[in-house]
Amino acid sequence: MQLSHGASRISHSFVRNILALTQKPGVISFAGGLPDPYLFPITPIKEAMATLMQELDVSLFQYGPTQGFLPLREALALQYQHKDIPASAKDILITTGSQQGLDLTCRALMNPKDAIVVESPTYLAALQLFRSHEATIHTVSITPEGPDIKALEALFQMGTIRFFYTIPTFQNPTGFTCSAPLRRKVAALAKQYGVWIVEDDPYGALRYEGTTPPSYATLFPEGTMVLGTASKVVAPDFRLGWLYAPQEALEACIKFKECTDLQSSYFFQRVLHEMMTNDTLRTHQKRLKRAYVQKRDTMVSALKEHFGEALHVEVPEGGMFVWASLKDGRDTMELFHEAIKHHVAFVPGSVFFPCGGGQDTMRLNFTHSTTEKIVEGVARLKKAYTLF
Ligand SMILES: Cc1ncc(COP(=O)(O)O)c(C=O)c1O
Repeated sequence: MQLSHGASRISHSFVRNILALTQKPGVISFAGGLPDPYLFPITPIKEAMATLMQELDVSLFQYGPTQGFLPLREALALQYQHKDIPASAKDILITTGSQQGLDLTCRALMNPKDAIVVESPTYLAALQLFRSHEATIHTVSITPEGPDIKALEALFQMGTIRFFYTIPTFQNPTGFTCSAPLRRKVAALAKQYGVWIVEDDPYGALRYEGTTPPSYATLFPEGTMVLGTASKVVAPDFRLGWLYAPQEALEACIKFKECTDLQSSYFFQRVLHEMMTNDTLRTHQKRLKRAYVQKRDTMVSALKEHFGEALHVEVPEGGMFVWASLKDGRDTMELFHEAIKHHVAFVPGSVFFPCGGGQDTMRLNFTHSTTEKIVEGVARLKKAYTLF
């Protein structure tokens, strides 16, 4: 029996496959993009749930409008306004994780075989999704300053690009943040050539130092879709994300969401809203950032101590990942296989490059492990490095 074209274009992602391997007892994993489970805001969640249950609102657990819980959309719009994004509740759709937001965005903006541009390297699950939509994928390389603007303009000049998918703040996998001047240039080009910008922003709230450059939604509001999520600052299992988009595009996404799952869980939307309005989320976020910056610093110093000049380490101002490259140019996929024997895991960078490259790079997650495990894991990695 035959399956769809999309089904044959995607395979299980490398990261998903190795996650199974890394969940074995004794393995220290820097591989997944996982938050620290010991820092999940259990007490605020319990309190918010108790408040809701006490209210015994008859609408609790009932079907609701596809666009999402209005007070939550209002609270999110307010957050966007603080970032100079001209948002109101009508511009926001609550989604089942930002992964669904991205899927709806593809359905709203492109047809099978249409051309899109992604950064190289980029987020693997987005690549999988674009392949499932049969997108023709073009790439632009990125540096710590942002995308290669000349290459981007050359691609936009082809006149066929539907959208540019970018993670401008604490990019996955590199942790890079696109500078403000470069964002202005990208926005101007997108406007000039009529290309949508799809700004994926799961990590923006995890800033440990420095200031965030303007979102594309302030630079090019009529042509930008922004994806947000509760996965990294509350918990991935809430499966709550949101999409901020110009009206016509948002309307299309709402229709597609209705076809897909009718709505995201209203109960969890109300829990999130309760945590936003009773201020426990803000307090939790501060605690999370204090813990994560310590973990980042522990990882960076351990890498410097063990590898010295042998490894180039990019230190991100936020997010969840350290991006590193072997100065001798050797293949980190081989290092990965040796590392697994020493019960430590990371993601070889090459898997994030849609058109090849990055063999000497690697992504190391610093949020999931304890500081003790980070120190031990880096020591194991060094051992593997000396043997591979
Ligand atoms: C760049 C990027 N976008 C989206 C997501 C998915 O987030 P969600 O759990 O909201 O679907 C992730 C998760 O790791 C991510 O790194």
